[in-house]
Amino acid sequence: MKAMCLPAWPGLGLREVLAPRAAGPLPFPLRSPDSVRGFAARYLIYHLFRALGFGEGGTVVVPDYHHGNEVRAIRAAGASIVWYRIGRDLLPDLDELDALCRQGARALLAIHYFGRPQPMDEIGRMCRERGILLVEDCALALLSEAGGRPLGSFGDYAVFCLYKTLPVPNGGVLVSNRGALEGLAGLGRERCGLASVAGRSLDLAIERARSRIPIAGRAVGFAKSVAGRALSLARVSRQTVGDSGFDLACADLGASPLTEALLERFDYDEIRRIRRRNWALLRDRLAGRASFLDLPLGEGICPLFFPLLVPEKAAAARALWSRGVGAVEFWNREDRRSDAQTGAEALFLRDHVLELPIHQDISETQIDYMAEQVLRLAPLPAKVGLAVRHAS
Ligand SMILES: Cc1ncc(COP(=O)(O)O)c(C=O)c1O
Repeated sequence: MKAMCLPAWPGLGLREVLAPRAAGPLPFPLRSPDSVRGFAARYLIYHLFRALGFGEGGTVVVPDYHHGNEVRAIRAAGASIVWYRIGRDLLPDLDELDALCRQGARALLAIHYFGRPQPMDEIGRMCRERGILLVEDCALALLSEAGGRPLGSFGDYAVFCLYKTLPVPNGGVLVSNRGALEGLAGLGRERCGLASVAGRSLDLAIERARSRIPIAGRAVGFAKSVAGRALSLARVSRQTVGDSGFDLACADLGASPLTEALLERFDYDEIRRIRRRNWALLRDRLAGRASFLDLPLGEGICPLFFPLLVPEKAAAARALWSRGVGAVEFWNREDRRSDAQTGAEALFLRDHVLELPIHQDISETQIDYMAEQVLRLAPLPAKVGLAVRHAS
């Protein structure tokens, strides 16, 4: 099969920019009256915990399998953290979680990994019984639903990242399901720099071009990296998304006007449909031939990416990149201090999960191509053990 290019993230093109504004209502949380938008989800998490009074202290129960930016934000807000363990099925042990909740925590953070729901009925009940606030981290779960309800509508509060699922230059949403929260009004009014919006938007346009015409995309990408270096030399500051870190100087920034305009123009049902189709196609191509987290694709789930399991992430990612597949090393180990507090199952996930793109820009032919490249990788040795508990 001819070499192809599959960018890690969905690209931006004239199709989206010139699309008419959607006639119908925007999906949750974009139409929610008790919501605020910001530059990135991490800063909204920070403001949420500040507004909830965690600056005076208080404990949040947080899963040991996490990105790191949400943890930085919670700590920056002044809260302390206790960890609960996540299994290979990406679910907590509910008895263990309940025992932790009884030890005086004020809030619980639930992360919906790759768009797949956490058991919200059980966790919601637990939080109500223990008088604990429930915060849903939907950074990886925009447009996903469970039992016909959007993720992010189960907890007291929820935070979303927009730019992971959609081709927008930046943006996050914080939604309150308990009415407006004092202290959050007026958030996100500060504007981020034009250079960062233009740079990131150009990246998204290059992603689109690379996926359609790889040679042209590479040439534009090269020109863009030269321009980026020139801006750095000229000390033009740019705020970044998609990185690891927490910069208090960005905490009050809003989503850019371009993000706001684009949000009115996407076909959200189509985005979810294509992501689900791509997940199912790749799953079929790899079933019995490669290892992956075979999570149930329940109705309404909008998968963010396909979690392939590989023996050595860095080597597998390099091999796939060299063949044009934008694989991402998902949540590598943070540092030794965190490792000591992380359960064996979360360490397994950090060591072996590689993120494969199944977003709305990926075609069926590209899925076939990606499956071929994956099958050329070294398989995960049987002794690593892959038993995955399945929840309904
Ligand atoms: C689970 C989770 N929560 C929160 C965040 C923060 O998102 P953002 O990059 O929008 O700040 C991320 C990613 O960084 C994440 O993966």
